[in-house]
Amino acid sequence: MEKVEYYEFGIIGLGVMGRNLLFNMADHGVAVAGLDLDPEKVLALESEASPEHQVKGTTRVNLFLGLLKKPRAVLLLVPAGKPVDLAITDMLPFLEEGDILIDGGNSFFRDTERRVAELAERKIHFFGMGISGGEKGARNGPSMMPGGDKKAYETLRPVFEAIAAKVNNESCVAYMGNGSAGHYVKMVHNGIEYGIMQLIAEVYDIMKRGYDLSDEKIQETFKRWNHSELRSYLIEVTAKVLGKQDEETGQGLVALISDRARSKGTGKWTSQNAMELQVPVPVIDAAVMMRDLSAYKSGRVAAAMHFPPLVYDTEIKDIERIIDRLKNALHFAIITTYAQGMEQLHVASKAYNYDINLEHVAKIWRGGCIIRSASLEHFMKAFTKNPQLQNLILDEEIGSTLQEIQKDLRWVINHSVARGIPIASLMAALSYFDAYRSAKLPTNLIQAQRDYFGAHHYERIDREGIFHTVWD
Ligand code: 6PG
Repeated sequence: MEKVEYYEFGIIGLGVMGRNLLFNMADHGVAVAGLDLDPEKVLALESEASPEHQVKGTTRVNLFLGLLKKPRAVLLLVPAGKPVDLAITDMLPFLEEGDILIDGGNSFFRDTERRVAELAERKIHFFGMGISGGEKGARNGPSMMPGGDKKAYETLRPVFEAIAAKVNNESCVAYMGNGSAGHYVKMVHNGIEYGIMQLIAEVYDIMKRGYDLSDEKIQETFKRWNHSELRSYLIEVTAKVLGKQDEETGQGLVALISDRARSKGTGKWTSQNAMELQVPVPVIDAAVMMRDLSAYKSGRVAAAMHFPPLVYDTEIKDIERIIDRLKNALHFAIITTYAQGMEQLHVASKAYNYDINLEHVAKIWRGGCIIRSASLEHFMKAFTKNPQLQNLILDEEIGSTLQEIQKDLRWVINHSVARGIPIASLMAALSYFDAYRSAKLPTNLIQAQRDYFGAHHYERIDREGIFHTVWD
């Protein structure tokens, strides 16, 4: 195909996400230029392109910006933190008023706020856009969470709608809200991702250590669950990774992988900010804590020698019934994880004036992203019915599902605790639910204690005002 003179879109960072998004755009007829400081990545880009693609790569920022149609549209896909600032600094001398910069990485939302303000002074539109779906999503259709400069987003909307994942012909991209809303929503997406992954890992542990199920049985169970109400990308992935054999040893690969889980920080940010906003998200907190605890390998190995496995009744009567209970327990806990994350978005939207529409969030999470699941269809309906719904568990339909299956989570927790299996996130899900459904909590006692030792005062249920008692 004849080369264009100017390219409609520029992508900075030709790593896994950048390269795949670039080809996704090119597949949709967009002429895209790519910039990477690594010449090998640039060469790989041009050799991978098909004759129909209008793509061009370079290692030089001035050449790159010279290739783009004005006002320019540049999508940054570089690691969060300093690399984003460096890329912006390198471009600044060549940028002009009206150019649009989009940060498509997992940037911390506070950094996005700062960059929006700094670039606005130079009349450059900057907006943050969370992108989820990993390598495959980027190539075939991710879920995208743009926020901030709405006018700038509107000019690029057709491109994003074309490349996004589709559910019932609807694109998984929507304007999330003001300021840093796009990166905030993506951060919470990742917090929910941490929670669900930890819950799945706990259920896997119960099956393996608690009930001695074979790897084949566990894999087959997750595969089957992916055709039930648990249908989701993370359950599908779990079945696939459990079925993978190590080529060298012939053993299941998952069993050969180190149990120290790494993280890049988005789960921690979700928990930290939830604490700041005083929104309880205990499943996510427990998931972050368990990844941290996984790094304490030598301590765990030493403690395992001091505290041998628990002895419990090993007679298992009806394993299929137990597997069914595990399914319901996982389903229950996953619903509460979404409920916690969505409530965090509800509170953050007010606190930071984001004006996030939760129906739109549920809608664009139905496809393309890592936490896509059949449940999101129900969550979307719940927010369509009541856009101000504070917490998903208060929706009638979701509430009755929880009511029906809660007994199985209680059973699973009892039996797993007896077997000494660590199930921090499952327990957090149930305690959260039990606290949320308690019209009365024991925190009146805490108020009395605070008043006793610190004269912090308390309110009464039978009278208006604040009170202090001389307790002794
Ligand atoms: C996504 C993922 C993606 C990335 C995570 C991994 O939505 O596509 O969330 O952003 O895989 O950031 O995070 P950790 O390294 O912290 O597990």
